Amino acid sequence: MRILQMTDPHLYGRAEGQLRGVETDSSLRAVIDEAFAEVPDFAALLVTGDLVQDDASGYLRFRSIFSAVGQPILCIPGNHDIPEAMSRQLCEPPFQICGTRKIDAWQFVMLDSYDPGHVGGRLTPQELARLDAALASDESHAMVCLHHHPIAMNSRWLDGIGLANADDFWRIIDAHSHVKAVVWGHVHQAYDGSRGSVRLFATPSTCAQFLPASDRYAIDLRPPAYRSFQLHADGGIETQVHWVEAMPARQAAAR
Ligand SMILES: [Fe+2]
Repeated sequence: MRILQMTDPHLYGRAEGQLRGVETDSSLRAVIDEAFAEVPDFAALLVTGDLVQDDASGYLRFRSIFSAVGQPILCIPGNHDIPEAMSRQLCEPPFQICGTRKIDAWQFVMLDSYDPGHVGGRLTPQELARLDAALASDESHAMVCLHHHPIAMNSRWLDGIGLANADDFWRIIDAHSHVKAVVWGHVHQAYDGSRGSVRLFATPSTCAQFLPASDRYAIDLRPPAYRSFQLHADGGIETQVHWVEAMPARQAAAR
C-alpha cells in the first residue's frame, strides 16, 4: 500500500500569498502535480499540519485544491491552523481531521498537538487517552501522526518549540509494540530515524524549508517536497522524500 505525506502548505486565501518568499499556493500545486504523477496509486494522503498560515480563508483554497481527490485526505492541525475554521471547512470526504483510519493492514492514528497560544505543541490528557485507546483496540500495524516533533531535532530553536509533553507520548507508544512509525511535520526538513523498533519520520514542507542542525532560525533553500511510503502487510516500511526541483519558488525563497 502506498501513502503520501504532504506537510506545512501554509496556504493563504490569496493565491499570491507568500511565506518566506515562496508562493505557497503554486508551490503546493507543483508538489501535487509531481506526486500524483509519480505515485498515482496512493491509498491516502496525510497532511500533517499548518494547512494555512493563520488565515481561515486558506481552508477554502485547500478544499478546492483537494476536493476532487478520490482517496482520503487525512489532516491534523498545526500551530498555524485555526481549528474551528478547519473543522468547518473540511468536514466531509475526502477530508478527515484527526481520529483514526484503518486501511488494509494498517491503522493510522492522527493526533491533535495544537496548543492554543503556543508555537510548540502539547497533547491534552484526553488526546493521550484517545491514542492509548486507539492502539489498545486494534492490533494492526500503526502509524501515528502529529504536527510537532516528539524528539530533539538537534536544532536549539526548533527544539524549544517541539512537543512539550513528549515523555507522556512515548510512554504510550512504548506500551504498544505494534506501533511501526511516528510521522510529523512542523520542522520543514527531512528526518529518518528510529527509536527501538519504531521508525521516525519528518518531512519537508510543500513550501519553504528550515536549515537542519541549525541552532538559530535559518532558511534552507532546498525546494518543496513530499514523502511517499510503501507500507507492507508484514509491517515493513519503505519510504522516500521527493524534492520537487522544477519549482520557481526556489529563486523567490532567496529574497
Ligand atoms: Fe509549518
